[in-house]
Amino acid sequence: MPQFVQFNLSDLTDMLGEDDVKSILSSFSCPMNKDVEDFIRNKAIEFSKRGFAKTHLVFWVSDDQTEKELVGYYTVAPKVIKVDKKAVSKSVGKRLRAQGINSHDDNEYIVPAPLIGQLGKNYADGNNCLISGNELLALAVEKVKLVQNEIGGRFVYLECEEKEKLLEFYQENGFKIFGKRLLDRDETGIDGEYLIQLFAIL
Ligand SMILES: CC(C)(COP(=O)(O)OP(=O)(O)OC[C@H]1O[C@@H](n2cnc3c(N)ncnc32)[C@H](O)[C@@H]1OP(=O)(O)O)[C@@H](O)C(=O)NCCC(=O)NCCS
Repeated sequence: MPQFVQFNLSDLTDMLGEDDVKSILSSFSCPMNKDVEDFIRNKAIEFSKRGFAKTHLVFWVSDDQTEKELVGYYTVAPKVIKVDKKAVSKSVGKRLRAQGINSHDDNEYIVPAPLIGQLGKNYADGNNCLISGNELLALAVEKVKLVQNEIGGRFVYLECEEKEKLLEFYQENGFKIFGKRLLDRDETGIDGEYLIQLFAIL
């Protein structure tokens, strides 16, 4: 079994100082998704500080604990989602209604669902081979479950570009597509005009 340790970026910054953390993050490489790379290199510390989204760094650790490699990261942020009633089955609708916040619009459910805002493996030095996407996503989902165990909630939310490989990856991991959202003007470096919205029931 591979061994991973996780660090909350805010905690790591407190421990090591911002300069050392920036130097660790500057080595992160994600050629297939420049947004994921840019976020961790240039935005994650600020977003963590301001409480917009918390980043969690995942390190692979060797059996004898002497080696540690940054293999990926994910971010989690608080969020409320609107789900069109027509987009889900009756049984899923029931669960959404049970957790729902009242909406003025009878055609939608509104539920709290933490957002996994960024998720990516580190392709520098072949570190991506030390973790699978399934393992990384499982760690992110586990984090959301931990939070929900304390405060309640059953749903987790994410958005992704309309790319077959990515949609396959999330759907194989239990996420369901329920809509799409137009990109904001400041969301650059993303292919297309909108993002596909998915959620999972935990
Ligand atoms: C998404 C991810 C975590 C899945 O990990 P994984 O299941 O171990 O998958 P791999 O890295 O082996 O990639 C699987 C396939 O998806 C493709 N793929 C991965 N990310 C992609 C992207 N952003 N755009 C297009 N294709 C992508 C890979 O090229 C690969 O294709 P292949 O099967 O033809 O070789 C990982 O691919 C990753 O970190 N991708 C870059 C970051 C990213 O796009 N994150 C998603 C944000 S919504």
